[in-house]
Amino acid sequence: MSLSRVKNLVILGATGSIGDSTLDIVARHPDKFNVYAITGHSNLEKLIQLTHQFKPKYVLISDVEHYSSLKFLLKDLDTQVLAGEDEMVNICKLSEVDLVIAGIVGSAGMSPVLATVEAGKDLLLANKEALVVAGDLVMQAAIKNNANIIPLDSEHNAIYQCLPSNYTVGTTPKDIEKIILTASGGPFWNRKAETFQEITPEQACAHPNWDMGRKISVDSATLMNKGLEIIEAHWLFNLELCKIDVHVHPQSIIHSMVCYKDGSVLAQLGEPDMRIPIAYGLGLRERISSGANLIDLLNNKDLQFFPPDYQKFPCLQLARDAVEQGGTAMAILNFANEVTVEAFLNKQIPFTAIAQINEHIMTKAIINKVENVQQLQFLDKETRIQTCQMVKNYV
Ligand SMILES: NC(=O)c1ccc[n+]([C@@H]2O[C@H](COP(=O)([O-])OP(=O)(O)OC[C@H]3O[C@@H](n4cnc5c(N)ncnc54)[C@H](OP(=O)(O)O)[C@@H]3O)[C@@H](O)[C@H]2O)c1
Repeated sequence: MSLSRVKNLVILGATGSIGDSTLDIVARHPDKFNVYAITGHSNLEKLIQLTHQFKPKYVLISDVEHYSSLKFLLKDLDTQVLAGEDEMVNICKLSEVDLVIAGIVGSAGMSPVLATVEAGKDLLLANKEALVVAGDLVMQAAIKNNANIIPLDSEHNAIYQCLPSNYTVGTTPKDIEKIILTASGGPFWNRKAETFQEITPEQACAHPNWDMGRKISVDSATLMNKGLEIIEAHWLFNLELCKIDVHVHPQSIIHSMVCYKDGSVLAQLGEPDMRIPIAYGLGLRERISSGANLIDLLNNKDLQFFPPDYQKFPCLQLARDAVEQGGTAMAILNFANEVTVEAFLNKQIPFTAIAQINEHIMTKAIINKVENVQQLQFLDKETRIQTCQMVKNYV
């Protein structure tokens, strides 16, 4: 699709950090993009402010409890107010929609992501958990319906930028040896493991390089985020685990690399600013201005790389093991991790318990082939019940 006409965008998770970065770029290009629909979950105030600012045709609150208040507070606008997951799925499939930006956090984004690719729409994917949980179903549906997926996660977007322009997500890239996902190492890369027990949610959410939502910030601190990204890369680029490496690169300037069989290594560099990958996605590979600053390499001379520490950050190994196990293992790990991260943020368990409980759930898990969404939804409920129980009993 070319950029010649104004594109109608659906922004799922518009009230979050990915939503902020996306809307910042969109506001710079009124000739290219129209905000057709936005969604939020709990942040009514921000959803109302965005509705006033961007005047979308639809605004949707996924938590139905807030529907009446939102409808009342927006009664003077022409925007149609909707609520709930079914309506969100319906919006993604509307014929007027050109692009869906998946910026919801967690597996709550799975159904709209699937609906988007089933409808053959272009999908800009930040919501990695949707792919971790349902990668098999999403990629099959995307290929079958000719849906174009552009990864927004900075690492996967970097890989995508380093692949030939005719490359289609879901296929194995030609002539490559491997990919290298870079990882900042998070806030605790240099902290002694013996002190991890005392880490507070505030410390875990203070990422040294990126400003992000709370869940992904904690995942970055445990390195589960890199684990989820390994799974994401496995599905997006159809690569076996042995072709996906991780290098810790604390400066977060090289966002990832592709190693070709002739010995060439292509990398994408830039400021740690999510507007760069999002702009590349919104432009559908055409370069549009993002508002991000150009990186000053003369002032960033020290680019360092380290192997990941699997002992200090066991969640990374759990994710690798889940890819090896295949089937529902990746979904179960993700569901358990969503519960443990929330429990940590709510100060119910210490930082170290996130990996311990995740590991315990994985040891007990019965792994099956992924069949359909209903199976995954059932598994979601079951795993959450088991994990919540372990959180309650944690001493
Ligand atoms: N932030 C980044 O720099 C970054 C980078 C790479 C990848 N990602 C990925 O992008 C996704 C979003 O991350 P984020 O940092 O933008 O998170 P965030 O700031 O916490 O925003 C999350 C968004 O999802 C909505 N949401 C929360 N729970 C929901 C539910 N149950 N159903 C529907 N919507 C729900 C939130 O709505 P309310 O706020 O209204 O509750 C908000 O709009 C994650 O998968 C993350 O891994 C983010």
